Amino acid sequence: MFARIAPRYDLSNRMMSFGIDRVWRRIAIRELGACADGDVLDLCAGTMDFSVALASRSRSLIALDFCQPMLDAGAAKVPTGTKLRTICADARAMPIDDASLDGAVAGFGIRNVPEPERAVAEAWRVLRPGGRLVVVDFFQPRSLLARVMDVSYNRVVLPLVGGLLTGEFSAYRYLAASMGAWCDRSGFENTCREAGFRTVRGWDLFPPVASIVVAEK
Ligand SMILES: C[S@@+](CC[C@H](N)C(=O)[O-])C[C@H]1O[C@@H](n2cnc3c(N)ncnc32)[C@H](O)[C@@H]1O
Repeated sequence: MFARIAPRYDLSNRMMSFGIDRVWRRIAIRELGACADGDVLDLCAGTMDFSVALASRSRSLIALDFCQPMLDAGAAKVPTGTKLRTICADARAMPIDDASLDGAVAGFGIRNVPEPERAVAEAWRVLRPGGRLVVVDFFQPRSLLARVMDVSYNRVVLPLVGGLLTGEFSAYRYLAASMGAWCDRSGFENTCREAGFRTVRGWDLFPPVASIVVAEK
């Protein structure tokens, strides 16, 4: 499914979020703190928007995704000279050494991993002590405003605009449905604690369709 939407993924992302995803990404990178300067994993990297945003800053980058066409669709955006390794692999079994990275960022991807707790455990394993995992995603809405946004935007606008732009209506229906099918933010924060992360905090972004979780090893 991701291979089918890869060629028009960036365009539909920008249109569906009215560009606000760039602001969410900046916040996520800010929350990586000094970890952003070291060796960083872009987890479920897709077309590598996070890798591109980190390119001028991080010592080295790994963009990991199990869909090679998504990685290929983003390759041209990465500035030349960036120390980037792309890995086509499952987030539940990353071919990356233990405690070898300073930071990991996951944008709108862990939700799609079956057994997301295994991806979180893997992120914990590959981080050095003090390393940070920052996740931006659409969790189950809890507040009234978030629920209204979920019904109006996530379930109507997103599948419609995404479907019109890519012709892949079923893919965008799946992406919207996957938001309702997994945990709320506090459930995900608990998953991070259970994986071993020492400090975990999270909050809703604006508009409250997406949230951020920051976990430190
Ligand atoms: C909605 S896209 C997000 C892409 C990108 N991180 C972004 O911020 O736009 C979700 C990505 O997660 C990847 N993905 C889903 N399940 C995965 C898994 N089990 N292992 C690795 N990548 C996975 C998909 O291939 C897809 O590229």
